[in-house]
Amino acid sequence: MEIKVLKSYKELSSTVANIVKRQIKKHPLSKLVLPTGSTPLGMYKELVSRELDWSHAITFNLDVYLMNVDHPESYQSYMKKNLFEKTNIYPDHCHFPFRPTSAFEDKIAGSMGIDLCILGIGSNGHIAFNEPGSSFLSRTRVVNLDEQTIEDNSRFFGSVEDTPKQAITMGLGTIMESKKIVLMANGDHKLNILNVAMNGEVTEDVPASVLQNHDNVKVFYCD
Ligand code: PGA
Repeated sequence: MEIKVLKSYKELSSTVANIVKRQIKKHPLSKLVLPTGSTPLGMYKELVSRELDWSHAITFNLDVYLMNVDHPESYQSYMKKNLFEKTNIYPDHCHFPFRPTSAFEDKIAGSMGIDLCILGIGSNGHIAFNEPGSSFLSRTRVVNLDEQTIEDNSRFFGSVEDTPKQAITMGLGTIMESKKIVLMANGDHKLNILNVAMNGEVTEDVPASVLQNHDNVKVFYCD
């Protein structure tokens, strides 16, 4: 798979923001799947600085920690702060995975499916919180986070002890039903796993490698 290498984080952010913008301008009722973490922060910054009518768009987040949703590091707080409060999107149109997870799946199915899914990649090859070993057919579910993920995400919580250990994630099967997928990766610590996932063996040990089975994926990287 082609990995498009961009010159800077600014270019990575604006390239993906342009894809989201074009999608919403062309199809105002678009259903989008959105990521959290540090990589997409620049993309959200770009998006809120553009004149874009979000009033018909519907969003689904990839994952949430099992934790108090009002905590400043919850993904609900992240999305409010970085996108939702800065656009005219309707709060009722913004969905996060919830239990029962089958009801969340029904909500996606009821919206006639996802038009565009934006993903990051974890240093262990996860997409959303589908950790190594996740079934390619997996659906939205409660998961235990990998030790590596807890370690990586402890930078947001101050310590490994205070970092959530469980999450609800969209499944790999759910993600793969998106019509279009864009994966963004930033930093040379992601380059090796990105190459392995995009051009190595397709295996459940490397969850992002499932994307090799999708026919409309764009991959962008900057160091
Ligand atoms: P990051 O996370 O953007 O904070 O590196 C990416 C991911 O885990 O999907």
